Amino acid sequence: MMAITQAELEKEKLTALKQLKAVDNEDDLNSWRVACLGRSSAVTQAFSSLGSLSKEERPAMGKAANEVRKALEAALAERQEVLREASLQRSLQSEHLDVTLPGRPILHGRLHPLTQVLRRIYRIFGDMGFQIYRSPEVETDDNNFTYLNMPPYHPARDMWDTFYTSDEGVLLRTHTSPGQIRVMRERAPEDIRVILPGATARYEQLTARSEIEFVQVELLVVGKGVTFSELKGTLLDFAKLTFGEEARTRLRPSHFPFTEPSAEMDVECFVCGGKGCGVCKGTGWLEILGCGMVHPVVLKYGGYDPAVYSGFAAGMGIDRSTLMRYRIDDIRHFRNNDIRFLEQF
Ligand code: PHE
Repeated sequence: MMAITQAELEKEKLTALKQLKAVDNEDDLNSWRVACLGRSSAVTQAFSSLGSLSKEERPAMGKAANEVRKALEAALAERQEVLREASLQRSLQSEHLDVTLPGRPILHGRLHPLTQVLRRIYRIFGDMGFQIYRSPEVETDDNNFTYLNMPPYHPARDMWDTFYTSDEGVLLRTHTSPGQIRVMRERAPEDIRVILPGATARYEQLTARSEIEFVQVELLVVGKGVTFSELKGTLLDFAKLTFGEEARTRLRPSHFPFTEPSAEMDVECFVCGGKGCGVCKGTGWLEILGCGMVHPVVLKYGGYDPAVYSGFAAGMGIDRSTLMRYRIDDIRHFRNNDIRFLEQF
């Protein structure tokens, strides 16, 4: 290797320091380090030439090389710091945040009004010891009608305008009552205390007050010695918890093929307080559910001996009472997914 003189070394140092000043990024800084402090740099050359120098020259050269290396290393560290600081500034600039700008409104998700009402109902009946039992929305003709005491061609089937599927004997349930058959067949001969919520469908004219799809909650209690007064007590408790302690209710005799005796429950119109208005059609009362003692034929289809077991059932539509409670003017709002409607609840 060519020996390098102290003067040359000094010159190399100055050049290196000058170059370093122009370095403005990490990559160039690395190249600079390799060139000016690496294996083939002038300083390294100076160090390796020490062995070939005379005793007199050696200390001075050694000292000079050391000083140059220290100076270059110090300059490198300083430059590194400058670059780091600059890049920090750059990212601060680019992530610049104006804390005085007004915030963007956050869209909150909300529960659908029907879901809110359903959850309230679940809680009320849950507190009374009822379980929730899920049953399918697509049903057999047998569960929806025959086992509910309406054999094929029975005229009572006309009470429900039905959507049939292209499969023989398969339909969209017209009420949640077919779920009664499913629970009974699964649980017999155990006691039953369940609610069956879910979507139901009827082939009806769409109007502001009736939809082809709506939600019902069915009630079913089966056991030994279940009585009508228990049905009445349960429904009265439910009505008080739902419509308030002072809410007046009445049971009217009615008819359903799958209950005997049957009744319908009305609650005093909570829009006009019973005086009579458009919502209650001037009667002061709103019909909220159908109910009755489970018909012996239905108990038998469900696998219970009607001589030993009795039961009560009720079925209530949720949509119309939700409509009235929130003063919603059109039932079709429930299912047309308009966020402006949903945001109000
Ligand atoms: N399923 C009946 C309906 O939808 C309501 C009902 C349920 C009546 C249970 C009596 C007992 O109209």
